[in-house]
Amino acid sequence: MDKFIIKGPTPLKGIIPVSGSKNAALPLMAASLLGDSPSTIHLVPRLKDIYTFNNVIRVTGTKVDFDEEANTLTIDPKHLGYLEAPYDLVRKMRASFYMLGTLIGHSGQAKVSLPGGCAWGPRPVDLHLKGFEEMGINIELDQGYVHASTQNHSVEGGEFTLKPSSVGATINLVLGAVKRAKKFTIHNAAREPDVVLLCKMLQQMGADIEGIGTSTLIIRKVDKLSGVDFSNDPDRIETGTFMIAAAMLPKSDITLTGCKPKDLGRFPNAFKKLGVDFSVDGSNIHIKSNNTIHPVSIRTEIYPGFPTDLQAQWATLMTQANGTSTVTDTVYFDRFSYVPELNRLGAKMKVEKNKVTIHGKTPLDGASVMSTDLRASVSLVMAAMAAGGTSEILRIYHLDRGYENLEEKLNNAGASIKRVPQEIPA
Ligand code: UD1
Repeated sequence: MDKFIIKGPTPLKGIIPVSGSKNAALPLMAASLLGDSPSTIHLVPRLKDIYTFNNVIRVTGTKVDFDEEANTLTIDPKHLGYLEAPYDLVRKMRASFYMLGTLIGHSGQAKVSLPGGCAWGPRPVDLHLKGFEEMGINIELDQGYVHASTQNHSVEGGEFTLKPSSVGATINLVLGAVKRAKKFTIHNAAREPDVVLLCKMLQQMGADIEGIGTSTLIIRKVDKLSGVDFSNDPDRIETGTFMIAAAMLPKSDITLTGCKPKDLGRFPNAFKKLGVDFSVDGSNIHIKSNNTIHPVSIRTEIYPGFPTDLQAQWATLMTQANGTSTVTDTVYFDRFSYVPELNRLGAKMKVEKNKVTIHGKTPLDGASVMSTDLRASVSLVMAAMAAGGTSEILRIYHLDRGYENLEEKLNNAGASIKRVPQEIPA
């Protein structure tokens, strides 16, 4: 296990390239299994979650080649024959549960482990399972596994309403329906860019999906899908994270390259209220920080609202705003494990139910803190870059799940981040 030693305060200057999206790549990888020829996906980030999913896919007999230098993944499902996703792999990453939809779509049968809990509380999969039952798939639970089966080659389909709207359930149901359900309608479907990109890839493979980008998806069965050459999108959460980091660190002046600003939804509306210089030029985003940051309260919402995956970073930024603000998470109610750690660095934050109140501006001082999940971890990195003195961030393996070359990118822009082995106490 590694830890970061971070010296602050440091501004960020220069160019930071944005990597391909982790959350968008995973469904594209799952979709590749539905083709009758290999698919190639470009702009796939070198991240632990991608390697984990490669291994989940390989279990089925599918061939996976990752050209890491080129960030290109080739997936050949010709020998897909083992219809199982075992607990040992699924527990490492919840998104492995996409194998349920893919295997149902591929063969009408699957044995997929239920995902375990998560660092920010219970994250159910009831909607995935109810949706498949509604589609006409037989679902049984046995010893922590979901067994899916169908009587016939195709099922009638029907309609299902997601309450609440769920990214993962929409993805799973789309993957399951495209080659299996005569007609299946998903109401209140997630409209996140990751879902749209998946539908576009499936469409290119030959799928019949109506309503892409809207909250009603109508899927009609096709018998055959072909492999495609397809490009993943840039990571919108990484983009937002670097924007927030630059705004937080005085004297910063950065250009983020390779972004897709349209995918940021309404996040830039909140960002503009901070009072920092911010402009978009094609796929480049420029940010120049100001000495004064205005307090801006936000509520997370489904896309195109403020993403829950940026709330921890935003709350961290608000510790340096001139005044009091609040961050309310309406998607996940228990995603504030970073708060006690930030308070150790000098922040003044208080959590009540699903809302954190932040009293800014408080000076931050280096200390030893612990990463608890992916977005909490990057928030601690940002706080440590803003803090005076040296900080130690323990358990940074969370970061390796979701941020490609994080310390290299930040160090190239002026940060002082050193990765060292973390001694495990006896
Ligand atoms: C995905 C993202 C995650 C992001 C989240 C919300 C990936 C790999 N992960 O997670 O980073 O934070 O979207 O944007 O893409 N729910 C149920 N029952 C279900 C499924 C979900 O009640 O069966 C609830 C959840 O508890 C949550 C809400 O629906 O309150 C939204 O969750 P969902 O969109 O499914 O998140 P994930 O797809 O797991």
